[in-house]
Amino acid sequence: MTNLALITGASSGIGKEFARYHASKGGDLIITARREEALNTLKDELERKHSVTVQTIALDLAAEGGARKLIDEVAARGLNVDILINNAGFGGHGLHTQRDWAAEKAMIDLNITALVELSHGIGKGMVNRGGGKILNVASTAAMMPGPLQANYFATKAYVMSYSQALDEELREHGVTVSSLNPGFVHTEFAAAADLEGTGLAAQKGATAESVAKIGYDGMMKGKLVIINEGRLSFLLNWITPLLPRRTVLKMVRGMQTKSA
Ligand SMILES: NC(=O)c1ccc[n+]([C@@H]2O[C@H](COP(=O)([O-])OP(=O)(O)OC[C@H]3O[C@@H](n4cnc5c(N)ncnc54)[C@H](OP(=O)(O)O)[C@@H]3O)[C@@H](O)[C@H]2O)c1
Repeated sequence: MTNLALITGASSGIGKEFARYHASKGGDLIITARREEALNTLKDELERKHSVTVQTIALDLAAEGGARKLIDEVAARGLNVDILINNAGFGGHGLHTQRDWAAEKAMIDLNITALVELSHGIGKGMVNRGGGKILNVASTAAMMPGPLQANYFATKAYVMSYSQALDEELREHGVTVSSLNPGFVHTEFAAAADLEGTGLAAQKGATAESVAKIGYDGMMKGKLVIINEGRLSFLLNWITPLLPRRTVLKMVRGMQTKSA
């Protein structure tokens, strides 16, 4: 296997574009998500176009033991992962106390628990071999609290914090960890999160292809935090932190309120 990347959430959106971009560079792949058919279609496309080897592992990463199953399956196939892209994730609109607890828990299980278990298990192998790259997909949501998606924004804050600390620990062992914080991207995300009809989902947004390229290139350079748009980066790093907290909460709530 050459320059092997493990990409979660590769059946659609940004994850699918990460897989396409990595394959275009001649890298082999393990792609995973729940939808097996979509993974097989992507495998066929990439093997045909780029003469790379693509392995598929269809499973539910939010299920109890899902990440462990994936780590064990990769080991059972005798594969050493050079690049781990923890991309699978989902959001969910609504007042936290009125949302279904099972959905809120699954969000934590996927966006945080599976990502951390994979970074831990696969990262350990990278450290033992003296090199590797990890890209964790957070969001600009990581950089502010998010009323009407309180749990989602908080999961992404965890990912951004965790990734930076892990980079500092692992860098001396040849492993870098980057946090990709995209703004709004046109994928299946908004529909899955029931965000249609909000100002957030009405934005022009970025394409999954452009975000995957910026994220992947940033990861290869070992960047700590990657934001796909300069304007957003300036706003979130230099303006929002200076605003009163309640002003930020009201702004974010407004963006996520559905028009009547
Ligand atoms: N779109 C945006 O505006 C935006 C902005 C910032 C950050 N992000 C982040 O970007 C990442 C990718 O999202 P996207 O926009 O590309 O959305 P997407 O098109 O909905 O893709 C989500 C991917 O995650 C997989 N997934 C969902 N639940 C899963 C589960 N239980 N087990 C395994 N895989 C699961 C889905 O595959 P299956 O359904 O086949 O399992 C799919 O491949 C997410 O972490 C998201 O939070 C998105």
